[in-house]
Amino acid sequence: MKKIIAAVTLSALCVSSSFAFDAKVLKEHSDTGYKSDAKLEYKIPDEKNIPNNEFGELVKYGKELIVHTSKYIGPEVEDPKMRYAGNNLNCQSCHLDAGTKPYSSSYIGIFAAFPQYGARGNSIGTLADRINGCMERSMNGKKLPLDSKEMKAMQTYMYWLSQGYPVGGVDKLEGRSLSPIDRKMIKTQAADPVKGKVVYEQQCASCHGANGEGIKNDGRANGYMYPPLWGKDTYNKGAGMYRVLKAADFIKSNMPLGATKETPVLTDEEAYNVAAFINMDSNFRPDKADRINDFPLEDVKAPDVYRPNIETKENQVGPFGKFIK
Ligand code: HEC
Ligand code: HEC
Repeated sequence: MKKIIAAVTLSALCVSSSFAFDAKVLKEHSDTGYKSDAKLEYKIPDEKNIPNNEFGELVKYGKELIVHTSKYIGPEVEDPKMRYAGNNLNCQSCHLDAGTKPYSSSYIGIFAAFPQYGARGNSIGTLADRINGCMERSMNGKKLPLDSKEMKAMQTYMYWLSQGYPVGGVDKLEGRSLSPIDRKMIKTQAADPVKGKVVYEQQCASCHGANGEGIKNDGRANGYMYPPLWGKDTYNKGAGMYRVLKAADFIKSNMPLGATKETPVLTDEEAYNVAAFINMDSNFRPDKADRINDFPLEDVKAPDVYRPNIETKENQVGPFGKFIK
């Protein structure tokens, strides 16, 4: 036990001294050897073009799984063997409009972006690995078997949303991933959960509940009308949404429901503060076992990864300047 504590203390010292996230190093790790400056248009394919065959059936089942995840693989489904997700969220709870809304970590073009380097595991991961990343973290559950119909269906749907995009060439596709809030502000300013609570009460609680509990739909395994933001039935501490910068990026362009990148409701500062509020330690959230092993390389470690005992409070709420090179 003493040894463990010593090791933890030592790595804490390392983090707070010279190491910082270096975008250049991440770029080197992520290089696939392909360069393209092609201007790509963000296009949502028309469902009437889904073919009437086995492929089309799987595309449709994949979409259904993204939209109604809790109904097929949620913790309340009839067959215990199918209970892969540990909460009643849907993939669509975060990947809005069945994964087609720009800047909500959209699936448009995504099939052309994998395999890719992931700093969290310091390894090359496939699209299936990435889906299972969200299964274990955002969905607080377990991996879908690679040969399951569900894994194949999700990938087939993502393939269908990506047809026509060049393999390896979607990095510059506007609308993919999330739209970052002001990266200058976050370097010098900490997020303020006290101010975030005020934003929450004014802009979020009407749907997500006074205690972040959301509003469940009637019936078993039927998910939420408004998903919970904290508590037992939501994303765990290994999830991207637990990180203040990721959550702020998502919230700014997507919440309150109806907000877009072009027509946001909150300022960057409000999004930053409310992201810190929902993810506060005093708001219970399931932990993720082995989270301690995430981001083994310090110079590609995201600045906003917060693990008590290893990371400092500043990794939780900023200011993030000293963790970014
Ligand atoms: C609680 C929110 C949340 C839920 C629920 C969720 N995800 Fe995610 N997902 C994220 C975030 C945040 C990211 C990272 C976005 C980024 O870094 O740009 C992400 C990333 C991904 C990516 C990689 C995207 C990319 O552009 O590289 C895939 C694929 C994915 N999720 C699939 C799924 C699937 C499938 C489900 C349901 C089984 C799911 N997610 C559920 C929040 C969520
Ligand atoms: C009008 C209702 C409404 C309001 C107001 C609203 N949301 Fe949401 N929010 C939703 C819905 C609905 C979803 C899930 C989308 C889906 O399932 O299609 C969601 C999803 C989310 C998610 C990802 C899913 C999860 O459970 O973590 C986060 C984070 C979130 N909202 C944060 C906020 C914040 C912060 C505010 C206030 C700034 C806010 N929302 C205001 C309706 C709302």
